[in-house]
Amino acid sequence: MTTPPVCDYEGSDYQTSFWDQGGREYEDRAEAIALRRLLPPGGRLLLELGAGAGRNTPRYLGFDRIVLLDYSRTQLEQAQARLGKSDKYIYVAADVYRLPFIDGLFDAATMIRVLHHMADAPKALRQVRNVMGADGTFILEFANKLNLKAIFRYLLGRQGWSPFTLEPVEFVKLNFDFHPKAVQNWLKELGFSIERILTLSHFRIGLLKRFVPTGILVFFDSIFQWTGAWWQYTPSVFVKAVNWEQASGGLKQELSVLEYFKCPSCGQSPLTDKNDHLECPSCKKKWEVKDGIYDFREPIKN
Ligand SMILES: C[S@@+](CC[C@H](N)C(=O)[O-])C[C@H]1O[C@@H](n2cnc3c(N)ncnc32)[C@H](O)[C@@H]1O
Repeated sequence: MTTPPVCDYEGSDYQTSFWDQGGREYEDRAEAIALRRLLPPGGRLLLELGAGAGRNTPRYLGFDRIVLLDYSRTQLEQAQARLGKSDKYIYVAADVYRLPFIDGLFDAATMIRVLHHMADAPKALRQVRNVMGADGTFILEFANKLNLKAIFRYLLGRQGWSPFTLEPVEFVKLNFDFHPKAVQNWLKELGFSIERILTLSHFRIGLLKRFVPTGILVFFDSIFQWTGAWWQYTPSVFVKAVNWEQASGGLKQELSVLEYFKCPSCGQSPLTDKNDHLECPSCKKKWEVKDGIYDFREPIKN
């Protein structure tokens, strides 16, 4: 099965350079508020897609268990260093386009700052829908092509692509901005109902961020976030979508971690535990388990 290319963060210092030292306290705090507003306060099992170094994970602590999934093993190692190894966190290296989970598994899922690396967003969203249980809440953040800066630049003739059309724009290789309507259409086609939309980062302007105290920007952003129900012109948009149409009806019984997984290659479940790897009883592929990270990117070569 061929899948779209992955924007690989292996070895990246993204968390340090972009967040810790990148002057993005305002964006980070605005996201914390949005997540609090959108996510149920607790639940059984949450999937964090493209978890990176686990920046947002402490915001999901109301859930009994959190599965952190990322394609980059080094990002997961950073998350492990931050959050520790415990039964609460399951670390999974895998591709969003080939999720290694059984259908209907999760009560909730989040995908923050990840869709913008998806060359085939509907395909990725379909994978997410498949692993969500009935009534499951999915919080999706996407980068919005219909933002005010892009609109002005386009109207002034300083930008070739139109922010008003539905197709994604790839402004840098494997970095995409999406039209809010297109994202909503994809979610609805997959059977999600859109419960709420929040707009974020209204004040992502260098000068404002430099001269206005962050707390004030965050305060006003938190008020303006609600306008997302009517219009979306900010660079970042959060959507709360609920999965009403998952046919499996959700999995309410307690499963062991091993029972979460299916073979990402052939779909077989359960896999057989061989201590340092999981083996697929059907296609015989072996998936490494090392230092607390389940690795479903490529099977182990014999
Ligand atoms: C911009 S970072 C966001 C990290 C985190 N969500 C945050 O907001 O701090 C994007 C993350 O998505 C991951 N990613 C990109 N494409 C992926 C894919 N196809 N499957 C799994 N993870 C992917 C990258 O490895 C990276 O850690």
